[in-house]
Amino acid sequence: MTFITDICPACGVSLCSMAKVIIEPFRIKSIEPIRSTTRQEREQLLNAAHYNVFLLAAENVLIDLLTDSGTGAMSIKQWAAIMEGDESYAGSKSYYHFRDSIQEIFGYRHIIPTHQGRAAERILFSVMCKKGDVVPNNTHFDTTRANVEFVGAEAVDLVIPEGKRPDRVHPFKGNMDVEMLQELIERVGPERIPLVMLTVTNNSGGGQPVSMANVRQVSAICRRHRIPLYFDACRFAENAYFIKLREPGYNSKTPKQIAQEMFSYGEGCTMSAKKDGLANIGGFLCTNDDLLAQQEENLLILTEGYPTYGGLAGRDLEAVAVGVQEALEEDYLRYRIASTQYLGSHIAAQGVPIVQPPGGHAIYLDARAFLPHIPPSQFPGVALAAELYLEGGIRSVEIGTLMFGAAAKMDLVRLAIPRRVYTQSHIDYVVEVILEVWKKRNQIRGLTLTYEAPFLRHFTARLEPVEQPVAQLV
Ligand SMILES: Cc1ncc(COP(=O)(O)O)c(C=O)c1O
Repeated sequence: MTFITDICPACGVSLCSMAKVIIEPFRIKSIEPIRSTTRQEREQLLNAAHYNVFLLAAENVLIDLLTDSGTGAMSIKQWAAIMEGDESYAGSKSYYHFRDSIQEIFGYRHIIPTHQGRAAERILFSVMCKKGDVVPNNTHFDTTRANVEFVGAEAVDLVIPEGKRPDRVHPFKGNMDVEMLQELIERVGPERIPLVMLTVTNNSGGGQPVSMANVRQVSAICRRHRIPLYFDACRFAENAYFIKLREPGYNSKTPKQIAQEMFSYGEGCTMSAKKDGLANIGGFLCTNDDLLAQQEENLLILTEGYPTYGGLAGRDLEAVAVGVQEALEEDYLRYRIASTQYLGSHIAAQGVPIVQPPGGHAIYLDARAFLPHIPPSQFPGVALAAELYLEGGIRSVEIGTLMFGAAAKMDLVRLAIPRRVYTQSHIDYVVEVILEVWKKRNQIRGLTLTYEAPFLRHFTARLEPVEQPVAQLV
């Protein structure tokens, strides 16, 4: 198992200066078989799924890169902690483990458990926002945007211009444009902005990190206007490791020290523990504000559960308490970032167009550049995702015209890497399949919709290939 180190294209820093080979920092104690299928079987399965990989049964997928959310493998320490789960309704011992572990890293006064990230978002925005308010973020994740809009507020994305250009290399493409933030506050007035959010790493912008310098600048602007800064902290550990690798002054700090410093500039956060909590379910909401915490806990009791379990079992609280600490281990983060980078650099070296530089949790193929003969109206991202499945049983997800309609600025295919699940040979296989599809790219056909739901159509859409234009046959 050899992750050959690469020079980071964003910063020129080797991902590991000590060794040439980065290995998976674990050995495998329990295995879950995955099932190979023939191309003929996959053709039938994809047909039956109407060319929409969401409609495939997971057992017919060989390598599942649909999402990194809730799909990670737990450690022996997490499984051991699960056995200690205290299922008491109120005051469970597991809640105090959960609270203390999170508080050590995040530093906030109130730690409120929720069943996953979007529940924390719903409670936060219901309590803090009202109709006519404006919430700036570097880029809102789709559930975050939906929860802001659900209470009648406006969600505004203020990522730096480099963050919108797939081919542009920048070490911190997730940064917020501080001039635009300042301008927005002056234009609408601070009284209409109940909070500012920073998403670390910026999932919707390709898993790109935010620098500590940017966090500090945003925090200073917020404090000047008495607006609280909150983090969408789903991938906080990956962001901390990028800061260590790329930002001057942080190389000798531990990821935990970096995370602690980052959170010290804010007043709270929302978190999906299905990402850097290394758990299969769970989330939390943090705040330093006593009055807000009281309102949030009242809403929690109404919709999630009592404040010492918030919709989770005691065993889930234990898994998260251990997971957030393990996500900050340096060996783990070095392997995690190197394996994502390895996939990206090996396909990019052969000319495959990807969002540059590789992010923390996923590689994004630029489907418009990959399949320039397929117009956005024929869903190049869905066609590419379908072809990856046909070629090698790999499941990915389109983020483009099917998901966002005509508003889509790009057609991307996301290959999200579950945490601690796949080994280097699995990643080598993914590289091989993508390069095979790259060779045959001119033969791939666009798709047309045969069914679409009135909203969130990508989950259930049905499609079929369009007739092949004569020009393509030559
Ligand atoms: C940046 C970001 N915020 C919020 C969420 C929502 O978390 P959950 O899926 O646990 O509700 C996600 C999930 O993918 C995310 O990536």
